[in-house]
Amino acid sequence: MQLKNDRYLRALARQPVDCTPVWMMRQAGRYLPEYKATRAEAGDFMSLCKNADLACEVTLQPLRRYALDAAILFSDILTIPDAMGLGLYFEAGEGPKFERPIQSAADVDAIGIPDPEQELGYVMNAVRTIRKNLNGDVPLIGFSGSPWTLATYMIEGGSSKAFTKIKKMAFAEPAVLHRLLDKIADSVILYLNAQIAAGAQSVMVFDTWGGVLSPRDYQEFSLQYMHKIVDGLTREAEGRRVPVTLFTKNGGMWLEQIAATGCDAVGLDWTIDIADAKRRVGDKVALQGNMDPSMLYAPPARIEQEVAHILQGFGQGSGHVFNLGHGIHLDVPPEHAGVFVDAVHRLSKPYHQG
Ligand code: CP3
Repeated sequence: MQLKNDRYLRALARQPVDCTPVWMMRQAGRYLPEYKATRAEAGDFMSLCKNADLACEVTLQPLRRYALDAAILFSDILTIPDAMGLGLYFEAGEGPKFERPIQSAADVDAIGIPDPEQELGYVMNAVRTIRKNLNGDVPLIGFSGSPWTLATYMIEGGSSKAFTKIKKMAFAEPAVLHRLLDKIADSVILYLNAQIAAGAQSVMVFDTWGGVLSPRDYQEFSLQYMHKIVDGLTREAEGRRVPVTLFTKNGGMWLEQIAATGCDAVGLDWTIDIADAKRRVGDKVALQGNMDPSMLYAPPARIEQEVAHILQGFGQGSGHVFNLGHGIHLDVPPEHAGVFVDAVHRLSKPYHQG
């Protein structure tokens, strides 16, 4: 079926568009009262992920409110470690936790590579249900975490500030960590290819914690494995390219290396000027980003001013997918997200003439 709105895919291919496409990281979530209601109906977050109809419902909720140019699968990056048997749970107010974190070489050797249509079949069912219900309105983005980012949660046992356990393994027993990262990379390749087979029209890899590494360690422990993933992905489906976006938060100093993996787009947080980013890599890849999500606390006029600045920074032509530089905060007024999305469409038109 022909997509009714393919601006997002066209911008990733750096083909002409009528205006700059936009979506928001974590666009389905707790800042929306309708999300909170559906989550309450499901019971808890993982039950919501595992119910294809409810996961589809929360995926579509932000699209009903805002003129977004893409939908993103409602799921989480921690589905893979959960499927590996680590026992994911969420402690109220504390974020994700694992009952059985990875602590030793024996733990690394004991975990298997999940079969995407078995242990992760609920994710593929959600993809199929969402694709059907989107009815060709906008493309569906699939996603996964990067091996390094997933390994931080698996080894630290949850969220972390200093990452001492995984860094201890990286520097004291590098071969063990490499075995783990390799298993995760293989799992991610199978998982994303299964999402593509189930109907995802684009995929994104979230490397939330690559930016806590030194340049050399980033290359060795994070980027190398994202490169392996890019090499292993299905790049065409339904007669169309399936673009892959790599996003390393705090990775602005490594844009050239990220672009050199062969990905289609690089995600930017807000700590880099998009004009600089375009100068450095804009002839190789598309760019996604890069407004500070906290800007959505500001009054509408300030949000519009910031959107205008970023559009001006990217300048004329295609190759930009507007987004927040990280996930939307849970206490922003929903109307401000609407101001943001409409401003991107309205203010970007002059950059796409001729
Ligand atoms: O963007 C979307 O709308 C799609 C859904 C999505 C979720 N998580 C839903 C979610 C995506 C793309 C993610 C990715 C994710 N999950 C990342 C990478 C992106 C980033 O934010 O850096 C990371 C690091 C995670 C791990 C994770 N899952 C965390 C840190 C949390 C927050 C815990 C909390 O209580 O705030 C989650 C849970 C989670 N994932 C929620 C949502 C909507 C909140 C759960 C809830 O409803 O209580």
